[in-house]
Amino acid sequence: MWLCLCVLLSGCGEPGEVAAGEETYNRYCFSCHAAGLAGAPKTGIADMWAPRLAKGREVLLATTIEGIAPGMPPRGLCQECTDAQLNDAIGFMLSAKP
Ligand code: HEC
Repeated sequence: MWLCLCVLLSGCGEPGEVAAGEETYNRYCFSCHAAGLAGAPKTGIADMWAPRLAKGREVLLATTIEGIAPGMPPRGLCQECTDAQLNDAIGFMLSAKP
């Protein structure tokens, strides 16, 4: 039972990192990326992310910082997020279960 919970939360291995990305995601990215609003690649759907990921993680971070008009706002609306926090949030979206 506890083992299950632990696996579900997937925070056991590296708590800090996983939690950081998830928190940023839940606060700023979730609203568009959970539902795929305005064509946003959906969280955890590997097929939707594959062509974007093919550009490389650095490029994804760069486009996140700059935004992609008109759908994706610069920094995903989190003006106070550091680049590292944004990168963690991207990592969460790539790895999370939908
Ligand atoms: C207002 C809605 C909205 C919010 C909030 C939002 N996104 Fe997006 N995002 C989009 C849309 C729409 C696209 C697809 C843009 C396109 O390709 O035309 C996108 C695309 C992306 C991409 C792919 C970029 C690429 O180069 O293909 C990444 C990475 C991303 N978002 C990260 C984030 C992160 C991280 C956050 C939170 C910090 C966030 N987004 C918040 C709407 C949003």
